[in-house]
Amino acid sequence: MNAISIKNLKKTYATGVHALKGVSLEIPSGDFFGLLGPNGAGKTTLIGIISGLVNKTSGNVSVAGFDIDKNPENGRMTIGVVPQEFNLSIFEKVFDIVVDQAGYYGVPRKKAFVSAEKYLRALGLWEKRDQKAIALSGGMKRRLMIARALIHEPQILILDEPTAGVDVELRRGMWDFLTKLNSEGVTIILTTHYLEEAERLAKQLAIIDHGEIIEKGSVKELVKKLDIQPFAFDLEKRITAETLSHLREFDARALDEDTIEVRLPKNRSVNDVFHAFDRGEIRVKNMRTSANRLEELFLNLTKKS
Ligand SMILES: Nc1ncnc2c1ncn2[C@@H]1O[C@H](COP(=O)(O)OP(=O)(O)OP(=O)(O)O)[C@@H](O)[C@H]1O
Ligand SMILES: [Mg+2]
Repeated sequence: MNAISIKNLKKTYATGVHALKGVSLEIPSGDFFGLLGPNGAGKTTLIGIISGLVNKTSGNVSVAGFDIDKNPENGRMTIGVVPQEFNLSIFEKVFDIVVDQAGYYGVPRKKAFVSAEKYLRALGLWEKRDQKAIALSGGMKRRLMIARALIHEPQILILDEPTAGVDVELRRGMWDFLTKLNSEGVTIILTTHYLEEAERLAKQLAIIDHGEIIEKGSVKELVKKLDIQPFAFDLEKRITAETLSHLREFDARALDEDTIEVRLPKNRSVNDVFHAFDRGEIRVKNMRTSANRLEELFLNLTKKS
């Protein structure tokens, strides 16, 4: 079954902005789905429609098999949303914020206490439970919004840029938390600007730009579409004009005095590059892929025209 099914979804805001221009997407249950796109692409609008906060202009959306037009409540009950903007009652206590949310979903208070403790502990906020939200750091507030979104144990968790402004260590902690949640069966949909995050977490990805899905598939499939892959080689000796001339066919350039970057077309093998090094009697100390491949693809696809 699909957790989310979207057909030809359009949204035009009252201002006349066409935020979504016919988006179709199927997100299977249990997926970890990454939605990538530059600022203003339509990510938050899409999430808003799925979660019932924004009215669509046309098209069809089903959540956990429930059409949002015919059965808006049933769909909403299966979703937890972590919004992009902070929307916490900052003078309320952390524990109360999480427990009070349960009321909207008809979760009995006793059960809510248990879930609140479980998620506040898992997200490293249990010690802060009696503090007011205003006293939390930005990263803590984000995690509090995650705990709050999970209070009714939703089948689907949607997070709109959950790691924006979160430091590296906390971000990794959040990744582990989300990965575990997904392995327990929760479908996760996340928008992000961090390509590394998408590559690390997502099973399937869609890239959205100007209100249209321009690519979708697994990370592997998307990266395969790249025509060229850059590699960096650390050389034993300093790079000279002669070094570069031996690797001219690979578009070589010096990254620094002893690191050379080559661009390997799809139809060539790394062996061909090593042959070129051999011919020039150039010794290589080390090699690595020199750019995040997903990042390269993303930039290629969303290039400003
Ligand atoms: N409430 C609104 N009223 C009018 N226009 C809106 C509204 N919300 C969003 N838009 C416009 O719709 C387009 C898509 O915005 P949206 O917030 O969905 O993008 P986004 O992909 O989430 O961007 P970001 O990465 O910056 O969060 C933008 O042009 C934006 O200005
Ligand atoms: Mg947004």
